[in-house]
Amino acid sequence: MGRLDGKTAIITGAAAGIGNAIATAMAREGAHVFMGDIDDAAGRAAEAVIRASGSMATYAHCDVSVEQDIANLVERAGKTGHIDILVNNAAIAIGGMPLHEMTDEQWHRLIAVNLTSVFRGTKHVLPYMLAQKSGSVISMASAQGHIGLDGWTAYAGAKGAVMSMMRQLAVEFGPHNIRFNSISPGTINTPMNEQVIRELGDHVARAWVKMHPIGRIGRPEEVAEAAVYLASDAAGFTTGIDLRVDGGLTAAPRYVPDLV
Ligand SMILES: NC(=O)c1ccc[n+]([C@@H]2O[C@H](COP(=O)([O-])OP(=O)(O)OC[C@H]3O[C@@H](n4cnc5c(N)ncnc54)[C@H](O)[C@@H]3O)[C@@H](O)[C@H]2O)c1
Repeated sequence: MGRLDGKTAIITGAAAGIGNAIATAMAREGAHVFMGDIDDAAGRAAEAVIRASGSMATYAHCDVSVEQDIANLVERAGKTGHIDILVNNAAIAIGGMPLHEMTDEQWHRLIAVNLTSVFRGTKHVLPYMLAQKSGSVISMASAQGHIGLDGWTAYAGAKGAVMSMMRQLAVEFGPHNIRFNSISPGTINTPMNEQVIRELGDHVARAWVKMHPIGRIGRPEEVAEAAVYLASDAAGFTTGIDLRVDGGLTAAPRYVPDLV
């Protein structure tokens, strides 16, 4: 028996990285996963891999900065008769520059993909969850929403807002048995970070390892496990939290000198 048997889950940004690991884990636990992404080739390939394992997956193009795409994905998932889980996962990394070098266009793109998407995704699943009087919404925040890192103000600002929105929604919709939580990963080995290393250099990867007390960066599957828990009935009394899956990153001072 799977922990998510019979549930319908929507995961955005599900073609790669953490989103793909979450879709894979939720499908393995018995959910029918509706996977949205802008990379259709990778999305369809990911859907095929899940189906080949005997689980249920449906991929659909969904640019989370386009409200109609979100509405279409939600409507498609809703045809199962219920929507139990939404994972607002898709996001982009624009940063690595001081704030005054960030353009208005970069700011608005980041806010559209990383924050407005959370508003829209949640808005579109709420009517289903209110009608069925149950649901679990999980939004991907970040360690960057807890601690500062030079050059990432806009990204951190959006992630802080995501966490705050989940807390607020947990209060507002708790009486309807709809749970809202966020997950704050530390540095995870995904294409997003491969891109950051390509743009900023290998020294960044070495610094990342040093920043995590556990002595390595994380795996997407380790974040997916947290998402499965928050989506499952085992977390029925857990709402309004931010679950840090960060190898101790936010528990540690940022620079750790070699003292021993
Ligand atoms: N990787 C990390 O270290 C890390 C750390 C903290 C938080 N996060 C967060 O975890 C989430 C997943 O990150 P990741 O590292 O797996 O990212 P990733 O870049 O590796 O994968 C993101 C996926 O989202 C898709 N995507 C990008 N723009 C999209 C859009 N407009 N609409 C729909 N899909 C889109 C991409 O095609 C890709 O498949 C993000 O919210 C990210 O901010 C990641």
